[in-house]
Amino acid sequence: MTKIIAVVNQKGGVGKTTTTINVAAQLAGPRSSVLLVDLDPQGNATSGLAIPKESTQLTTYNVLNGTAQLMQAAQKTNVAHLFVLPANNNLAGAEVELVGREHREFALRQALQQASTYDYVLIDCPPSLGLLTINALTAAKQVLIPVQAEYYAMEGLSQLLQTIQAVRGSTNPQLELLGIVLTMFDKRNSLSDQVQTEVADYFGDKLFKTIIPRNVRLAEAPSYGRTIYEHDRWSKGARAYKALAKEFEGRLV
Ligand SMILES: Nc1ncnc2c1ncn2[C@@H]1O[C@H](COP(=O)(O)OP(=O)(O)OP(=O)(O)O)[C@@H](O)[C@H]1O
Ligand SMILES: [Mg+2]
Repeated sequence: MTKIIAVVNQKGGVGKTTTTINVAAQLAGPRSSVLLVDLDPQGNATSGLAIPKESTQLTTYNVLNGTAQLMQAAQKTNVAHLFVLPANNNLAGAEVELVGREHREFALRQALQQASTYDYVLIDCPPSLGLLTINALTAAKQVLIPVQAEYYAMEGLSQLLQTIQAVRGSTNPQLELLGIVLTMFDKRNSLSDQVQTEVADYFGDKLFKTIIPRNVRLAEAPSYGRTIYEHDRWSKGARAYKALAKEFEGRLV
């Protein structure tokens, strides 16, 4: 069965896209094909995987509004066995158009019925709790929440957890919290330790043991359209995401 995971945090810039790309790339291999769904009009996952987002004809937008099939719009990436459903700015329109539609929360779930050829589907969400994110939470089996080890890290998390609870009560009773991953951790900064303690106290063993360090190689990679393994496979960032993907896989079985 296809494992569908939404990567969600309505806070901007916490590492959702970096996490989605690099976990997806690590999971992809001869025995498991992976689809990354770019559900953010910013299209950062698309460009981060070297797909030119403005010239791309068929995108997540078309799949959501029924003008393209998932299999037509999904593209190969430079990483073997990793595919992307690309997005660009026109996805912002989908949010508005969907509002007027019946079963508007189910558009992505319905589209992903065609995703059974993939072993994993990872959904990179936009920084909001709007209809696109609700579509992701309705389509997914599990949620992964990246939390940046910074000031106000916990801010907004209770609202996110309430939203997950609300989705369970309405469109997706099976939805589970897969876990929380701390990102951009800076061991020279005592604040990072404080955040770690706070998040661990609150989430217990839902917090992934693997912590993603702040690492300049991770920040550089998307501007070359590369995953961290293509950019610098021996970097701290690459090793961390490799370990995270392993832990992630372990939690899914
Ligand atoms: N571990 C890290 N070390 C250094 N830089 C990082 C790290 N993780 C992410 N970044 C950089 O921080 C910025 C935000 O990361 P990213 O785009 O993954 O966050 P996001 O949550 O997807 O943002 P948005 O909410 O805008 O979609 C990017 O420039 C990214 O390259
Ligand atoms: Mg992003």
